[in-house]
Amino acid sequence: MITQEENDLLTRTGKGTPAGELLRRYWQPVALAEELPQGGAPLPVKILGEELALFRDDHGRPGLLGIHCSHRGTDLSYGRVENGGLRCLYHGWLYDIKGRCLEQPGEPNCGEHRDSIRHLAYPCEESGGIIFTYMGPGEPPLLPQYDFLIAPAERRYSNKIYHECNYLQANEGNIDPVHLSFLHRFYETPQGRYTGVRNTEDSHYNLVGRDLAPTIDVERTDFGVRIYTTRNQPGGNVYLRVTYFIMPNLSAFPGQTGGEGYSVNWHVPIDDEHHWKYTFVYSREAALDKGMIHRARSEVGPDYKLVRNRANRFNQDREEMKTKTFSGMGYGFQAHDLFATSSQGPVQDRTNEHVITSDKPIIAARKLMEKAIKDIQEGREPPHVVRDPRANRFPHMQVISDLIPGSTDIKQHTKKAEEEAKARL
Ligand code: FES
Ligand SMILES: [Fe+2]
Repeated sequence: MITQEENDLLTRTGKGTPAGELLRRYWQPVALAEELPQGGAPLPVKILGEELALFRDDHGRPGLLGIHCSHRGTDLSYGRVENGGLRCLYHGWLYDIKGRCLEQPGEPNCGEHRDSIRHLAYPCEESGGIIFTYMGPGEPPLLPQYDFLIAPAERRYSNKIYHECNYLQANEGNIDPVHLSFLHRFYETPQGRYTGVRNTEDSHYNLVGRDLAPTIDVERTDFGVRIYTTRNQPGGNVYLRVTYFIMPNLSAFPGQTGGEGYSVNWHVPIDDEHHWKYTFVYSREAALDKGMIHRARSEVGPDYKLVRNRANRFNQDREEMKTKTFSGMGYGFQAHDLFATSSQGPVQDRTNEHVITSDKPIIAARKLMEKAIKDIQEGREPPHVVRDPRANRFPHMQVISDLIPGSTDIKQHTKKAEEEAKARL
């Protein structure tokens, strides 16, 4: 349980709020590149409570401008893309991606004082099929070179899913190891679904179903929190999962690629009661399985909303609950997570929660965010704002899903994976 003040501190994300200022210190996904094809229409977007117009200029460069024209406020997302910028339909002012007003064509000499206009503009960069923006003060940091962004296209997948709830509770779901044994539990391993755990033919579903009360250990890293979860298995083995909270609003965990890659969820506020979950799948060596990509796509409509949602009560099936799935909400994890986190309320009231020992990763992540907020308030840079190109690869972010002998030192085992990753760099 936390106080109302702490809950507000971590969940309010508008300009000038403590968490809003924290999130603004990092590059944030603002759209999928597929939403903004070259020559396509500008997009109205809302991110961190700010209404903006995202466009690609006629050189193909993405730009993000305040949606209301600096002249008299007309919506720029309806504008014309031409002459090196975005032109307002009302009186033709033309803006470039830096927010400079290039033309005021209704004025003598095309607007002699147009240089005094500095329209709101946020820098954008493109990586891994995503358009990122930096909405914070000063020089933008480096865009993190995460494996899931920089791998060749056949080894990565990205999409996004609309969520009607605050970003924080959804990200807390990613770092909650126990819920795998309940919410995502299947009573039979569905054909063709993810089973991958290293060193065993047994499925992940059996492994998480066998030990409902795992042992959880957490440790701080320079980028967030590392979470070790072990579940006892027959023959003296343990199922080890190593997962991460990554500052300030994403998580990494074993997903469709089992122990040979990982998945990431990145929760970007639209406003305090809605957010986009950007989803990533990364494979270390093999090309991604097209069937997996097709299944992931089929869960999400063209508007990036899940087919199962609150309006249809997630198509919950009580017959299915008897023999097939714990939730009765099919085999797609995304729908389960949307249900669990959005039904906590638009902003979860954490003054009424009862956190227990297995919630320690969530407590650790909250503490780290509170500390980072304090860092900013006291003039320090928060953790994981990357400025040194030599520190812009993350071999110590090793996601693991392995069956190992119970006598194994799990920290040594993780360290070994880290050393191997360093050798591959
Ligand atoms: S309101 Fe945009 S040019 Fe006048
Ligand atoms: Fe989940």
